[in-house]
Amino acid sequence: MLDPADSDFARDPYPFYAGLRARGDASRVSLSNGSHAWLVTGYEQARAVLSDARFSNVPPRRAGRPKPDSPAERARAALAKHMLNADAPEHTRLRKLTTAAFSPRRVDALGPRIELLVKELLRDVGDRLAAGGPVDLVDTFAFPLPVLVIGEVLGVPEADRSALREWTYRVGSPADALPPGALEDAWSSLRRYFTELIADKRATPADDLFSSLVHEPGDDGEPPDWQPEELLAMAFLLLFAGYETTMNLLASATLLLLRHPEELTAAQADRIATRADRTNRTGPAGRRWDAVIEETLRHASPLEGTTWRRTTEAVTLPDGTVIPAESSVLVVLAAASRDPERYPDPDTFRPARYLPDRDGRAAPHLAFGHGPHYCLGARLARLEARVALPALFDALPGLRLATPLEELPYRPGLLVRGPRTLPVTLGEPAPRPR
Ligand code: HEM
Repeated sequence: MLDPADSDFARDPYPFYAGLRARGDASRVSLSNGSHAWLVTGYEQARAVLSDARFSNVPPRRAGRPKPDSPAERARAALAKHMLNADAPEHTRLRKLTTAAFSPRRVDALGPRIELLVKELLRDVGDRLAAGGPVDLVDTFAFPLPVLVIGEVLGVPEADRSALREWTYRVGSPADALPPGALEDAWSSLRRYFTELIADKRATPADDLFSSLVHEPGDDGEPPDWQPEELLAMAFLLLFAGYETTMNLLASATLLLLRHPEELTAAQADRIATRADRTNRTGPAGRRWDAVIEETLRHASPLEGTTWRRTTEAVTLPDGTVIPAESSVLVVLAAASRDPERYPDPDTFRPARYLPDRDGRAAPHLAFGHGPHYCLGARLARLEARVALPALFDALPGLRLATPLEELPYRPGLLVRGPRTLPVTLGEPAPRPR
């Protein structure tokens, strides 16, 4: 039986997944809440499932479930009607409406703002460390940065950002960790806030990515035809798809670099060389930083699994396994990106596998998914990491983990994966695990 809330499993689920992968294309697993699910853990099979229309993204209608009757429940239901919960042709229509807004040019234009946000956050982290640390880098850096960046994407005025950050934090937390009513209040506030924001953008388009989502014509030259609540759900999807994932990427990359100082030194040296060589077109972060980011995405997939899929009919996999109709299926990206058939020595963190060499680069990882729902924000997430990680280690030389590795708590559950806290100091290194 699999207990996703188990803290040891959350910290290191990889041996369990390796066992499943050895058993076949998909394994039926009993979950601690009494339900069952099919887990797909191999690289080839993961790609096949993610591009197969028989695996639907539309959440099942739960029989007997009461209609949402509180404002918070209604808000939650309205905000869930987004494209990640849709199949073709509905998904294709919604996805088309986003392509102009998420063009490489528009995303790259966010670079200077991200640099500024990173600088401000790091100034604060530096002050706190100077005051005697330790400081939690998740709370002070890896969490606020993606939320602030989504604030830029959505064109949220500066004055509203701390409210957005607070509601985001609350709806991402378990209800019992919050004061009574706080979660319900956050759902309703988010709905109200986004409704007003959309009305604003419709009336007065600004120079943000969300305004172009609202106004820019699609490939056919026609103005975008968003239905009333679709934009609301889209704003919510951008917020939620973009913050916890990127937070985990930043936190996991930082942790891996603290544990592998030789990789940090190599990335920093490469950047200095890149700066000196103005003909090098790899950008300010250098090829080695890019390789660190790709290898972190592979080795510590920020989304452990995709969103749940449901089979619309019985599906026979290449090894003969039959997944019955109406089954819940989870593609475990973390496991697929450590498939030994694809990646030699898959459990080792080795950024060099993403540098071009005689044998070419390693296979692309699956951290951003595959097929029609491939991550819309992949370019933005990479940009954030390329700005944030070099700046963090430049601004705070001598950064050290302040807690033994085996004491770092990880988020429970099968969806996201990353350290929940990352206490650091500028002092002596924490004792190495035995
Ligand atoms: C390291 C950071 C990120 C990771 C690892 C990640 C990963 C993923 C994955 C695996 C999916 C597909 C899920 C599935 O098939 O069930 C996805 C979808 C999506 N992501 Fe990301 N994501 C990241 C950052 C972002 C950011 C920054 C944004 C936007 C600002 C974003 C927006 C989206 C959207 C809108 C979808 C749905 C696409 C669709 O349904 O067609 N993501 N992401």
